[in-house]
Amino acid sequence: MEIRIRFEKHGQGHVFQYWDELGSEEQASLLEQAEEIDLDELDRLINTLVKATEAHSEINYDVLEPAPYERIPEGLANDARWQAAKEAGEAALRSGRVAAFTVAGGQGTRLGYDGPKGTFPISPIKHKPLFQLFAEKIMAARRRFQCDLPWFIMTSNVNHDTTAAFFAENDFFGLGGESVRFFRQGRMPAVDLEGCILMESKSAIAMSPDGHGGSMRALDRSGALDEMESRGIDLLSYFQVDNPHVQVVDPCFIGFHALSGTSMSSKMLPKAYEKEKLGHFCISGDRLEVVEYSDMPDRLTALRDESGALKFIAGSIAIHIVSVDFVRKLTNEASALALPFHKALKKIPYLNTSGELVRPTEANGVKFETFVFDALPFAGEAVIVESTRLGDFSPVKNAEGLDSPESCQADQQRLFAQWLMAEGVELDLDETGVPIHKLEVSPLFGYDAESFSESWKRFGEAVDFSKDVYLGDF
Ligand code: UTP
Repeated sequence: MEIRIRFEKHGQGHVFQYWDELGSEEQASLLEQAEEIDLDELDRLINTLVKATEAHSEINYDVLEPAPYERIPEGLANDARWQAAKEAGEAALRSGRVAAFTVAGGQGTRLGYDGPKGTFPISPIKHKPLFQLFAEKIMAARRRFQCDLPWFIMTSNVNHDTTAAFFAENDFFGLGGESVRFFRQGRMPAVDLEGCILMESKSAIAMSPDGHGGSMRALDRSGALDEMESRGIDLLSYFQVDNPHVQVVDPCFIGFHALSGTSMSSKMLPKAYEKEKLGHFCISGDRLEVVEYSDMPDRLTALRDESGALKFIAGSIAIHIVSVDFVRKLTNEASALALPFHKALKKIPYLNTSGELVRPTEANGVKFETFVFDALPFAGEAVIVESTRLGDFSPVKNAEGLDSPESCQADQQRLFAQWLMAEGVELDLDETGVPIHKLEVSPLFGYDAESFSESWKRFGEAVDFSKDVYLGDF
């Protein structure tokens, strides 16, 4: 078998060790997985990321500078540049140039939830799943901008079928099935610390999703790009499935991107403290880079400017606008703009030489992933736009503590309380700003301060805030 010989030549012949014991279906499935693997690429990754004794970094920390960004002005409503951006963004939305794009292919191991992360219940009273909150935000934007606003969702083999079934069971949350499009991202094999491909069973290679950067290739390979181009969509509003606070389409952000002529833009948050686990927007030479928090030397994260603020303050919150023609360029095989792979040391269950499944307690292998922010250096003059924490970011990463369902639900309620208090409502808050009685606002009632204010004025009903309050579509 030609493929088996190829694997042997690359020192990975053990993948087919149990071939003769397998039934025909198992053989077919193993072959399919093996075909997906680019062995030359894998060799290169093993040599540079697994076997290399010294960590290789392209970044010259001595010349690293903080990246400039668009600061939120004091009087945003009267700021000519931000208002021009807002108008341009709204025009792009109205003319159907924008699609919402969610990356939802991750494994969500830290949360430890059995199911696609997007199905995790997260709103404080109604326990709406993440996907429903995004769906309602999309619906609200469709109403406001009178546009189709399709939604592209990247899944992975781990969760594709369950994700699609979840939407079907919930009647696509009223969005219409034809406007929600799922596609799978690619996979990469995991290897042990010597570079041998790990097997998860006699007929299955330990394959895992190839990182959120895999979204670029997957958009192309799935035909999603063709579909976008044929529908006149040239801008993608990119966000992650674990962040219910995100403004799925933010006119100011879209507008800054559209007016600048760049290919990719990002939102930033001023980091709350030195060690906050956010990537840093930096300029290295003349390249804009996101330097991961784990790669950033302490001596740089601790630096402060003359006002006492952190020098490297701009944290990445994984919200981007990406131009469709840029994704084309990135994925064009001839362009040599491929995103680099990173390695992640993980505990990966594997079949030992006796054919038994072992669940390691220590990291025993490496997964390979690409990151979407690595596209920024290729994007020309990328634009970075400031955002507010409650207005855009409270991710659900961990089962408890920081960035957990509990912290996210508290943040949602802090945000709703802010909107209400801006309308003159008096609320009882605890010392952290969370209302004593639970509060939930459907995105169909209000998805930002402005839309909330409009609904609140029209709604006009007396609400008893001495008990839990849910404000829904009305
Ligand atoms: P994370 O980096 O938080 O990874 O993903 P994760 O897999 O969801 O969670 P852990 O690390 O196992 O706990 C950030 C975002 O990128 C998406 C996730 O679905 C999430 O929206 N993602 C991540 C993908 O779409 N594909 C991937 O291969 C990795």
